[in-house]
Amino acid sequence: SQQKNNNVLNRNEQYNFLSENELHNLMKKHKNLSILNRKQTEHILSLIRDTNADIVSFRKNADRLIRILMEQALCQIEKKKYVKQSPLGLYEANEVKYDDEEICIVSILRSGNAFLNEGLKVICGASIGQILIQRNEETSMPKYYFEKLPEDINQQQIILVDPMLASGGSASMALQLLLNKGVKQENIIFLTLVSCEQGLNKVFQQFPNIKIITAQVDPILLKDINYLAPGIGDFGDRYFGTI
Ligand code: URA
Repeated sequence: SQQKNNNVLNRNEQYNFLSENELHNLMKKHKNLSILNRKQTEHILSLIRDTNADIVSFRKNADRLIRILMEQALCQIEKKKYVKQSPLGLYEANEVKYDDEEICIVSILRSGNAFLNEGLKVICGASIGQILIQRNEETSMPKYYFEKLPEDINQQQIILVDPMLASGGSASMALQLLLNKGVKQENIIFLTLVSCEQGLNKVFQQFPNIKIITAQVDPILLKDINYLAPGIGDFGDRYFGTI
């Protein structure tokens, strides 16, 4: 992984981001895809991408963006309307239909665990599921190792989290595992900080009825090392300080 980091870091090609028009077309193609407003995210993402960011800055800014994604996930969950009282009178409440306990944040290990700090601040009572899938370094194929999920997961609203959506291999494997447990695609929201067109195409082709929310879509998937560019580098190593 250090070798891979160096490969990425030593490349000094300048990449162009997708235009607003290209992003718009991508969302037209995938009706269940949401890309966060660039104005809201580009400053924070730029601080995270910076290879010179120290761990304090990296964590702080990754957490800020994760918080926005978590709030955005709640925007997409079904709401219930009823009348509530403010100190000054009655108003129509429009609140998330589920209690916290009916929501499960499923982390694709290891990097997905970076979503737990902020995730649990937004949905304090959520249950946490974990799935360990790792890419075989030789074949580049994802391999399943471990899962721990609530028994009634098929009754829950799922927020699946993985900061980087590259080729989509691990995400597809995790999604299939959830479907095998009886979870409905309609009940899954997949959050990812940075994605790419190939990964989005692969996941939506297999699971057209899930929702995906991404902060940005990067222009390049470096196929030889399966990293996004300009990307963030190895997210897990940078967030957990294991470089
Ligand atoms: N995982 C990462 O950490 N970074 C990438 O660019 C792709 C997958």
